[in-house]
Amino acid sequence: MKNYDSIRHVVGESIFIDDVLIPENTLYGYVYYSPIAHGKILELNFDEALKSKGVKGIYSAKDIPGENQIGGIIPDENLFAEEELHFVGHPIAIIVADTYLHAKEASKKIHAVFEKLTPILDPREAAEKNSLIIPPRKFELGNVDDAWKDCDYIFEGRVDSGGQEHIYLETQGAVAIPAEGDSIKVISATQGPTAVQRTIARILALPMHKVEVNVQRLGGGFGGKEDQATAWACMAALAAFKLKIPVKLVLNRQDDIRITGKRHPYSSDYKIGLNKEGKILAYEVTFYQNAGASADLSPAILDRTLFHCTNAYFIPNVKATAFSCKTNLVPFTAFRGFGGPQGMFVIEAAIHRAANELGISSSEIQKKNLIKENDEFSYGQKAINSFAIKSYKLCEEKFDLQKLQDEVDEFNSKNFLVKKGLAVMPICFGISFTTTFLNQASALIHIYTDGSINVSTAAVEMGQGVNAKMKRIAAKVLSVDENRIHVDSTNTLRVANTSPTAASKGTDLNGFAVIDACNILLERLKKVAALELGEDDWTKISFKKEKVFDEDEPTTITFIDVVKKAYTSRVSLTAQAHHSTPNIYFDTKTNKGNPFAYHVYGTAIIQVTLDCLRGTYETDFVKVVHDFGESFHRQIDIGQVEGGIVQGIGWMSSEELIWNNEGKLLTDALSTYKVPDIHAIPKQIEIETLPYDQEKIVNDEFKDQIGPLNSKAIGEPPFMYGIGFYFALINAMKSFNPKMKLKYDSPLTPEKVLMNLYGE
Ligand code: MTE
Ligand code: MOS
Repeated sequence: MKNYDSIRHVVGESIFIDDVLIPENTLYGYVYYSPIAHGKILELNFDEALKSKGVKGIYSAKDIPGENQIGGIIPDENLFAEEELHFVGHPIAIIVADTYLHAKEASKKIHAVFEKLTPILDPREAAEKNSLIIPPRKFELGNVDDAWKDCDYIFEGRVDSGGQEHIYLETQGAVAIPAEGDSIKVISATQGPTAVQRTIARILALPMHKVEVNVQRLGGGFGGKEDQATAWACMAALAAFKLKIPVKLVLNRQDDIRITGKRHPYSSDYKIGLNKEGKILAYEVTFYQNAGASADLSPAILDRTLFHCTNAYFIPNVKATAFSCKTNLVPFTAFRGFGGPQGMFVIEAAIHRAANELGISSSEIQKKNLIKENDEFSYGQKAINSFAIKSYKLCEEKFDLQKLQDEVDEFNSKNFLVKKGLAVMPICFGISFTTTFLNQASALIHIYTDGSINVSTAAVEMGQGVNAKMKRIAAKVLSVDENRIHVDSTNTLRVANTSPTAASKGTDLNGFAVIDACNILLERLKKVAALELGEDDWTKISFKKEKVFDEDEPTTITFIDVVKKAYTSRVSLTAQAHHSTPNIYFDTKTNKGNPFAYHVYGTAIIQVTLDCLRGTYETDFVKVVHDFGESFHRQIDIGQVEGGIVQGIGWMSSEELIWNNEGKLLTDALSTYKVPDIHAIPKQIEIETLPYDQEKIVNDEFKDQIGPLNSKAIGEPPFMYGIGFYFALINAMKSFNPKMKLKYDSPLTPEKVLMNLYGE
């Protein structure tokens, strides 16, 4: 079965925020925001705007009954600016009118005078001026300072990676509907329903039980709606609360690109030391994360950069320092990989540089340094069930890396204006929220008397297919037809205190909760069936494909008979379960611990073809050996790998965010910000599954180190295969222009490629 949402999407029946049936009197909101990156509000007058056609109200900081505060990790972000403006797009007010256009029109009539101050845009400049979100963070293993003297080769350099706009198909939005008393219901497109509920309660000075948040689905989130769906829901709620009329707020695409956070741009310095055999003995790296104007999720993202700074390698001596730099750009936020890709790009660049200087291929260094069983990551966790070497070897053999490389060399020797390049990209991604307490979820399951089943969890469907997965898990555990099961919206009344659906943990956390809730129901049903069948020992009863078995013998009764009997026997057909990941912890003082339940591994080979006359390129293929665990929804998992790779390539290639020196984003439309289109996707993506050692996986010792039904998290890890694209392209460029000075500065847009092809 496909992701069952796909048919509804295609025929246009899926309900997104803009499709929610709203009461006739619903009003529409428009956000009025700062046109300058840094400055002060000297005058702000709404009188003329309030007289504008259709306008029902304008609300700003002074209208907030509770706290003007939406910061999640650190309380450093106002919903509406007070005196100071910190970035272009900083919200100042919400205008509410009878139509969207009337609200937008009125925004032009707001009278405002601003005093411009000099903005900081560059993270290194911010670090120098001590403009930091949190104190610097440092991960250390071994002793780097002592290790340099043992190195035969040492290379140092700088690496830059750009930000990335999410371009979720559905822009940010929410509908707020006032209910009885002070209560309010909000329909939000958020990855974190509880964050929205908590923040609205804070803004409106209400207890959380008066705020209901419902999430049907998201037209894509990719991390962009983990923290940053909250503001719009709060604004709609504030206006609805004031006016006692429903309010809908949906950002148009250009505003969404301008005023919402993106992947963090990073600038980094590395120093890598190797011995003659190609073993990396020491690695020192400093990351300057451009956090933007407030913390948002930056501290947690910074940590994941550190966690993944050595990718799939074991390096005995590591010193990694990270600065979260406060600048006058939009607060940057979660994006698939959550800081991991930025860290992994730097180590891969350092390896590429070393290989280049030594006249060998990167893969020779990669292979010698892959993390082995029981090797220690820089954060103290040991690699258990490490598939770094296994996946690399299998990828090399299965796809015949040597032959592929020979073919590329042969092609390049015969062609002058078209060049090919090849690169290998191993990945290792830790699974769990690194903020340990977030690793919890719950499920609520009702079986109705007609045998239909309703499943609610904390998981949010955003196209990644988590609902189809919850459905499959419930059907498997109860051994019933999937069509019996409906996975309902994510609602704070049915499932409380939700962690965001993020960190690729949606299926793991919620899937385990579904399993537990199903097992509670199963036990009750077995007891009812045992009574009905005159069996003294209920544990001898089993359900298989809708039928009831006693001691493995078929009986005359079925699942639905038992459900009906349970109801008339007054046995509850509702179960709730809570799951939390066992054995994970992390000490943020020593920066050591066991933060991840397990790691996901894999290796990709990427080949590109470069047109050296035009600087344009295409991806010939991506061949992957990926660690799925035991995939129980193959089609969805394959889709996640393919989508992740394309998004990763986009980040490395055509997606370029350009701000002018006043902090205004110039690439604020799909005509100037280039996401991969149908022509840019790889011509072929070949995906092999890493075979599993079954005995080891089901072994009790390892059972906590895998997802539900022995699957593994899939959402983010494949994104990082896309990093290999960058090095494949650099290799192609180098074969055209061997004198090219390697500057690791992504994305590599065709313009940049062309400049480098003909430069020194
Ligand atoms: N796939 C689709 N189609 N849409 C999305 O928004 N988000 C990604 C990934 N895959 C996303 C997606 C991100 S950032 C994460 S963390 C995971 O899905 C979240 O879902 P999961 O935990 O259920 O895998
Ligand atoms: Mo994903 S960046 O953890 O929402």
